[in-house]
Amino acid sequence: MVMMVLRGILFQLLVISIMKYAKGQNSDNSSTEIPLLDNQNMPLVALFDTTKLNEVLKIAIQKTVEDTMNEMIPRIKQAVIDDIGYEPGREKERPAFTASLTTTQYFGGNGVVKFDKVWLNMGRAYDHETGLFTAPKMGLYSISTTVMSNHNSYLHCDLWKNNENLVRAFGNDLSTGTLNVVMALKMNDTVYVKHSGGSEKIYGDQRSTFSGYLITE
Ligand SMILES: *[C@@H]1O[C@H](CO)[C@@H](O)[C@H](O)[C@H]1NC(C)=O
Ligand SMILES: *[C@@H]1O[C@H](CO)[C@@H](O)[C@H](O)[C@H]1NC(C)=O
Repeated sequence: MVMMVLRGILFQLLVISIMKYAKGQNSDNSSTEIPLLDNQNMPLVALFDTTKLNEVLKIAIQKTVEDTMNEMIPRIKQAVIDDIGYEPGREKERPAFTASLTTTQYFGGNGVVKFDKVWLNMGRAYDHETGLFTAPKMGLYSISTTVMSNHNSYLHCDLWKNNENLVRAFGNDLSTGTLNVVMALKMNDTVYVKHSGGSEKIYGDQRSTFSGYLITE
């Protein structure tokens, strides 16, 4: 797919190069007429000098290919990272993620904390829209979270595995609660941070975080 797109782009650039080259050349020594189509599909004729064509074309093609590659490779690489969460060549690395909270969130009652700013997501196992980390394979995982309370108020957050409430973090008046746990997870087990209790706020500004990685399978 990528190669087809690339080939299409290269062909277009080649045509453009020929047309550019053809512009302004109008001699009758070794000149060639090339029929072209304009935007209205009207036939046009380009006249150009062919004496140095090979050399000029070679340089133009080399430059075009180089420019295209230089421009395309970072874009292709980014598309792969966006798609599978891994940089090319690092697919075998362990699942790992880190996310943080950009803006302070208000909770009227219980609610999963959706850490929205994703710093790392190898294997795409963390979903910032739900706040859930889903174990992509069975193994021992290190999971940690730090949550910060708002001015003059309490904050209660728990770490959950599937429907099980595990360990708990607490903060009061701009203080943080931190949890570091090692968990044996099966494939598809979900882990998340959930606020519990009454009306409270969890501090944003990238001060509340959620991270995890596979230690060993
Ligand atoms: C062909 O014509 C061009 C433009 O008039 C001129 O610059 C060039 O030297 C000519 N080439 C030959 C091989 O006569
Ligand atoms: C995990 O979830 C995926 C997608 O829903 C499913 O295809 C797979 O069979 C599940 N694996 C296990 C062991 O539950």
